[in-house]
Amino acid sequence: MKHATYIDAALAPIERTEAIKLHGPDGFEGMRKAGRLAADMLDRLKPHVVPGARTDALDAMVHEMALEAGARPASLGYHGFTHSCCISINQVVCHGIPSERTLKEGDIVNIDVTPILDGWHGDTSRMYMVGEVPLKAKRLVEVSYEAMMRGIEQAQPGNRLGDIGHAIERFAAKHRYGVVRDFCGHGLGQVFHDAPDVVHAARAGTGPELRPGMFFTVEPMLNIGGPGVKILEDGWTAVTRDRTLSAQFEHSIGITETGHEIFTAPG
Ligand code: MF3
Ligand code: CO
Ligand code: CO
Repeated sequence: MKHATYIDAALAPIERTEAIKLHGPDGFEGMRKAGRLAADMLDRLKPHVVPGARTDALDAMVHEMALEAGARPASLGYHGFTHSCCISINQVVCHGIPSERTLKEGDIVNIDVTPILDGWHGDTSRMYMVGEVPLKAKRLVEVSYEAMMRGIEQAQPGNRLGDIGHAIERFAAKHRYGVVRDFCGHGLGQVFHDAPDVVHAARAGTGPELRPGMFFTVEPMLNIGGPGVKILEDGWTAVTRDRTLSAQFEHSIGITETGHEIFTAPG
């Protein structure tokens, strides 16, 4: 692989480029606010993720909460996406479209929000369990959270991006879960999906070196079965090929001089 290049974010165009943007204190401040809002939105959804809830009603709440905070949902209108968040239930891996569908007892549900506040993107998702959930679903959810955190642990200056995916994949493999390859984490900041791609199953010691000021998401998707996915007719909904359950968590983080900062940590 050719060498990664880095650019001072203050001098870079606000668009996706191959160069990795390195942000300064203003960027950290902007991401802190956007990230805190995103996490707060997920907190506030919690009591509403119950049996009988319509996913488009949850989406309307996400829209409302963003606007009320002076933000705007990045998903709305993004490459034609028609809603303010993604809601992915059970075998849906990601990019589930809110609809008239109602949640039922036993569902595991990912809600992924990305408010843009003062130009900065706070991108985060969590799993919610609807009522009593079967043990094997609960285990998948717990391991998926732990897998994300093990990846984030590797987010240190001097480490390589591949160390993150390596830690995630190793932990998932221990539990015999498949790690999705078709979707990655991504750089973000004033751009929603920027370089670099954050691969969730990688070789240790590979990929760009992590440097202070890099902002990106870690958002692994783990399946009970194989890692394969399939996109439904709607062009968005990604489901597991083998229709096994899938779970995902996502944080937006920044590399600091001594480690990392999680912008989307819950309050
Ligand atoms: N929030 C998703 C991510 O983590 C992207 C959703 S794009 C959408 O990158 F258009 F599907 F909403
Ligand atoms: Co993301
Ligand atoms: Co997201």
